[in-house]
Amino acid sequence: MKKKQVRIKETVGIDIGSHSIKIVHLRKQHEGFKLLNCDIRPTVASGIEYIPSDLRPERYAPVIIEMLKSLRINPKHIKHLVTSIGGDNTSIKQIKTIFLPDEELESALFFEAKKHIPISGTDMVLDYQVLSVEEKTNNMNILLAATSKDLLNEHTTTLTSAGLTPNIVDIDSLAVVNSFSLNAFAEEGVYVLLNLGAHRSNMVIWGPEAKLFARDIPYGGYNFTRDIMRKRQMEWDQAERHKMEFGLRDNPASATVESISMLDISEKSTEDAIVDEVRRSLRFYVKEAGNSDFRKLYLMGGSAKLAGLQEYFQEKVAIPTEIFMPFANVEVSDRLQSKKDPQLALAIGLAMRME
Ligand SMILES: Nc1ncnc2c1ncn2[C@@H]1O[C@H](COP(=O)(O)OP(=O)(O)OP(=O)(O)O)[C@@H](O)[C@H]1O
Ligand SMILES: [Mg+2]
Repeated sequence: MKKKQVRIKETVGIDIGSHSIKIVHLRKQHEGFKLLNCDIRPTVASGIEYIPSDLRPERYAPVIIEMLKSLRINPKHIKHLVTSIGGDNTSIKQIKTIFLPDEELESALFFEAKKHIPISGTDMVLDYQVLSVEEKTNNMNILLAATSKDLLNEHTTTLTSAGLTPNIVDIDSLAVVNSFSLNAFAEEGVYVLLNLGAHRSNMVIWGPEAKLFARDIPYGGYNFTRDIMRKRQMEWDQAERHKMEFGLRDNPASATVESISMLDISEKSTEDAIVDEVRRSLRFYVKEAGNSDFRKLYLMGGSAKLAGLQEYFQEKVAIPTEIFMPFANVEVSDRLQSKKDPQLALAIGLAMRME
């Protein structure tokens, strides 16, 4: 879904997460962007326990409408809207093929995609980008992005119900790459990006010259809250409050903490489950791409704010770890400084996507 070239001055990125919606409104400047406004709002009732599979997509539109209103954005006046989809029915893969002329490329890639991407052929919507053509071999490096028709339809319904006109629809993990590559001064080498959400997290391995790798890890903030409930015998809302205040750390005021956490050492914690998945993917990447020049691990998304997580990852994954703040090329006025948040990373990557 591409839009014809117009001179874009203002752009809106909307990240419709399963827990929170993030909206970023930017103005394009001579160099970089300026933050006009942004907002984050949950789509699940706070303090009330829920079952993720019970959450319905109908809950998104009313929240988006409220947010646009408070940001004073008229949905009918948005010139450049970028949104995204993710999850089980989306996939991106970088592949290599022999050189093919344009006319043949699309149908060849469709067959190729069926081999690499776990979405049934009849339901698959495919997009691709030629990244480079290798001089010596004439091989093409191609980025395939696929999703299902159903997911795309559901997304379109959400947007139109909120009074929006669907425009560019990206894939979550590519927006993560965009956010990073446009807001970091990455030298050569490879970077590991982890967008930690509520029910899943996007892991992307990216470098200016490196092969792109992306996958989802099925854990996020929801699982951290459940861990706290189990380990500390708390109800959902108490566990949520504990999570926001102490994260992985113990409450210094509580003396019984150690004996409580000792009760449940048998079950793997969410942070360990994520670390295991990350390490497994890194090993896979080293084998597949022949590159182990990992420079840094960047955490973003709402669960990147979990206290103690950055230190934990740094120790366990053994790569220098930082929380990613996506504002290197986004000017932020004094009034909005306090709204800078790693939870906005994906939405910023969307808003900064120009074509
Ligand atoms: N300060 C904080 N400390 C710990 N966790 C936090 C904090 N702030 C938000 N979170 C958690 O971050 C999660 C929401 O993050 P985010 O908005 O990135 O998820 P999402 O995009 O809605 O979900 P998903 O990507 O899984 O669909 C929630 O689980 C929330 O509890
Ligand atoms: Mg998310």
